[in-house]
Amino acid sequence: MPDETLTVTDNRTGKNYTLPIIDGTIKATDLRQLSVVDGDHGLMAYDPAYLNTASCRSAITYIDGDAGILRYRGYPIEQVAEDATFLETSYLLLEGELPTATQLASWTEDIRRHTYVHQNVKKFLEGFRYDAHPMGMLLGAVGALSTFYPDAKHIDDPTNRYLQRVRLMAKVPTIAAFIFRHSRGLPYVLPRNDLDYIGNYVNMTFEIGGRHDPNPVLQRALDLLLILHADHEQNCSTSAVRSVGSSHVDPFSAVSAGIAALYGPLHGGANEAVLTMLDEIGTKQNIPVFIEAVKAGKGRLMGFGHRVYKSYDPRAKLIKTVADDVFAQTGLNPKLEIALELERIALEDPYFVSRRLYPNVDFYSGLIYQAMGFPPDYFTVLFTLGRLPGWIAQWEEMLNDPEQKISRPRQVYTGPEVREFVPMARR
Ligand code: CMC
Repeated sequence: MPDETLTVTDNRTGKNYTLPIIDGTIKATDLRQLSVVDGDHGLMAYDPAYLNTASCRSAITYIDGDAGILRYRGYPIEQVAEDATFLETSYLLLEGELPTATQLASWTEDIRRHTYVHQNVKKFLEGFRYDAHPMGMLLGAVGALSTFYPDAKHIDDPTNRYLQRVRLMAKVPTIAAFIFRHSRGLPYVLPRNDLDYIGNYVNMTFEIGGRHDPNPVLQRALDLLLILHADHEQNCSTSAVRSVGSSHVDPFSAVSAGIAALYGPLHGGANEAVLTMLDEIGTKQNIPVFIEAVKAGKGRLMGFGHRVYKSYDPRAKLIKTVADDVFAQTGLNPKLEIALELERIALEDPYFVSRRLYPNVDFYSGLIYQAMGFPPDYFTVLFTLGRLPGWIAQWEEMLNDPEQKISRPRQVYTGPEVREFVPMARR
């Protein structure tokens, strides 16, 4: 028994139990011994939406929601964002350590060699309607990659896993760019392996008539935005990747589950929803009426609030500085004024203050993406590009964790007791 323990009395039976506390947690399975009669399943922990349940041990990302701290593998997000590139950050998340120059060069080169997708990927993208939502196309296309790479099911082989890791990092930006072009009816632009990761993606997205003049400030801003989205421990989409991956399906299928989860407006889809909200508000004068409606329970202030952060989201702070750099190049997004005023009012209003609701990563990111030339329904695709290394790192950590098994929560059954089936003629 470890030094730290919890002693509980089960008042149903009067029995005492001492449970070990390890890393600030008790094991839910230790509650099973609290049974009333032999053969019952024992006590369970009831925790809808995992409000207070750790589903894994993880060495990837640390968040202190009260202090507004986010660290990747121990490094503060502010320092990573200042000094690293997105590929360097991805290496850090996946390998656990910062790469040396040689390691980074080899990681970059491996990805560079896998940017092409099979020609048939283009064909099935063409099957989507012109107005198909980019996230719907993305989750379908990434899931379909498993049919092109059936070897990806050999998830126990680390060499094979590395290959799929590279394929995902290299091909998802290509698919994302093709989706952008599909929505506009523009011809697809093939990857250019003389360009860097971001430069290639931006070129595949925006090149017209063989030309695209890269703007280094905007490209660095995009690189930074991807860094800020790269991992966020056990959020909804990461939990989806881990949960689906725990059935030992291939990583393309597991990642497409993550994309599906990210699509929702309460998660990554919030960046699109913020823009819709700002459009609906229209002018600064309408803000007080909108705020009152939110407080009356008619909708949410999108881009505000977080399950873990109960202070300012450190990513939102960094994004505001990226916004300054971007708007200096593109001119101000006219909706910024409304967003700033919304934030000012909300941060003073007792409704938001008492619930500790602050702007999250999605509040300002959409304004920047829009200034860069991306339409609102595409914003969550950019979030996906950023979150990809985090999902892969968490998936591999889950596979290598001897404590993990197939994910399978319990339930409290609330349906009818056993009853006699009534044949159709007697209903
Ligand atoms: N606007 C108005 N009220 C809110 C909001 C909001 N954005 N967020 C939470 N609340 C209220 C909520 O109504 C509840 O009030 P009450 O106690 O009176 O019932 C209280 O605050 C606690 O909210 P909750 O829904 O229990 O909190 P949660 O941890 O389950 O939800 C959240 C977290 C992010 C889903 C939620 O804050 C939300 O819906 N925010 C808007 C959507 C959004 O911006 N999502 C992006 C999250 S960050 C990036 C990412 O993960 O993708």
